[in-house]
Parts: sequence; structure tokens; C-alpha cells
Amino acid sequence: MEDLIVTDIKADDLKVRLLGIAGSGRHGNTDLAVKLSLEAALKEPFVGETDFISLADLNLVPCKGCMKCWGWRAPAEDDEFKCYQSNDDSHMVIKKMKWADGIIMGTPLYNGSASSLLKIVMEKCHCFGHISYTSNAGKLMHKAIGAIVIGITDWSGHALVHTDIMMWGLQMGMWGARFGGTYYTDSRPHRGAMCTTVDAKNELDIDAILKESDKYIPPLHGSMNMRGVRNMGRATAITALRGKAALIQLAREDVKLPDLRPYKIYNIKPEPGSYLDELVKKGELELAPDARAPKL
Ligand SMILES: Cc1cc2nc3c(=O)[nH]c(=O)nc-3n(C[C@H](O)[C@H](O)[C@H](O)COP(=O)(O)O)c2cc1C
Repeated sequence: MEDLIVTDIKADDLKVRLLGIAGSGRHGNTDLAVKLSLEAALKEPFVGETDFISLADLNLVPCKGCMKCWGWRAPAEDDEFKCYQSNDDSHMVIKKMKWADGIIMGTPLYNGSASSLLKIVMEKCHCFGHISYTSNAGKLMHKAIGAIVIGITDWSGHALVHTDIMMWGLQMGMWGARFGGTYYTDSRPHRGAMCTTVDAKNELDIDAILKESDKYIPPLHGSMNMRGVRNMGRATAITALRGKAALIQLAREDVKLPDLRPYKIYNIKPEPGSYLDELVKKGELELAPDARAPKL
């Protein structure tokens, strides 16, 4: 174990940046919860900066599945994310995601699922996945991912949506901050951040997750919501810190991570000047004899 302990990293190197994304279509509980989690994280000495984005007022166009952001089409020199179908606000959101060391994604439950706004952002990140043959592959790797899920009722998909967000993070090569569904026991109200407004005076209110909104005294779910989201903020910050420390240590020791790409023979014919085309020219990738451009 001793070899794994990071020894010579200075505290100033290790200030982490956290981004909170609220996926509701309105400015309500999800905004509040994500902001509270960021506030709690910012109290930690190793959190340098936080930023918050609500998706409510953004223009987000769903992924159309063209796969052009993958490397067979994307220009080799293009280091920035580009959606080939729409110049929508996902470009701004993704820029911020690349800036952050840890991302907290909050969503209301919409019919037992994540909001479509949040799903659009997740889908647009396809080119960052570790098997995408692009210059963007792995650009979200080693960041932390935390999740906050809010519904009006108990057990209406919280854990599923939490898992969905974590699964997305895994595809990006991120570190999951925390999972826990024990929000209805009084012994462990601190785990997870799966909030319910079931005890609120009016469960549809835009601030129904707050303990001040509870109809019971002492407030039960409201207090648990508060503790859950604050702890999610801290947990994401700590996970981001661990990821950043590991990367700094690897760089200092000059340890190169293995190539992300799983295959050396590819069956998609790249466009001239694309990232894949360059790899073929450099001899890093071979095209299968029957390689052809996809039917779109
Ligand atoms: C389209 C839609 C579907 C919803 N489906 C669910 C659901 O399946 N389960 C649930 O507990 N709440 C559901 N809700 C309620 C919201 O999750 C809840 O009001 C949440 O607090 C809203 O968060 P916000 O204030 O950030 O918008 C739904 C709300 C909408 C608008």
C-alpha cells in the first residue's frame, strides 16, 4: 500500500474545480439542491472554484445519432467538442464540464427517469467515451461524478436514475462519488442524495425539498434532503481530489497510461483529414479490407 500513497503533492496543486448541473425544466428544487451541494463542497479547503449551470433556459437539441462527432468525420486538429447537427448550448455546457475536476448532475424524476434536458447533455458527450476513435476520447476521464435525484414520492425511480448517471460516468471513465439509497432510515440519512418532497406542505412547490417546507415537526425528509445533498457535494469534491492527486502523481513519475483504444483494425472508412485518417496515415490503425463510410 505504501507505494500508492501520494507523498510530494503540494496543497496548492490540489485545489479542485466543481461544476453543478441542474437538469430541471424549471428553476426549483433541483437548482436549490445542486447549489446547496456546491456550497457545502466550497467549504472544504481543497475546493478552489465552483460553477453552476441550470439547463432550464438553454437551447438543447437532442443527439440525432449521426456519429459524425466520432473520429471518422471529425477533423484531426479539432480539439474542441463539436455537434455536427446543431450549434446548441451543449457546446457551452461541455466546455464547462471539461473545465471541472468533478461534476454533480442533479435531475428531477420525470416519469421515473432523468429529465430529457439532462439526457441530452449526457448523450452529446458520446465522443468523450473511451472507445470513441476521436481526439476527444477520454477527455472526461478521471473526473468525479456525483448525482442528485429528486421526486415527489418515495421509491419512484431514484436509485435507477442515480445508477443511470453513474453508468454514464463509467462510460466516460469517471470516478463515481457515492451511491446510497438509505434515505428513509433515520440511522443513515447522510448517504446518497435521493431527495423526496413527500413530506412537504405542498409537494409540487419549487422549494419543497427544504426542511422549512416540511409539514412535520421536527422536519424529517427535508432535513435528510439537506444532509444528503450537502454530503454529495463533499463526496464529489473528495473523489475529484483523489482523481486529481492520482493524475499529478502519474505525471510526476512519468507513468503513461495505456492506450485507450481497444481495436487496431477499424471498419469505418474515414474522411480525408479526419482524426481516424491521420491515425491510419501514421500507421497506428489499420482499415479492414471492407471498410466503408457508414450509411446515414
Ligand atoms: C413530467 C414530470 C414527470 C414527473 N414524474 C415523477 C416521477 O415519476 N416520480 C416522482 O417522484 N416525481 C415526479 N415528478 C415530480 C418532480 O420530480 C418533482 O416535482 C421535483 O421536485 C421537481 O423538481 P424541480 O422543482 O427541480 O423542477 C414529475 C414531474 C414532471 C413535470
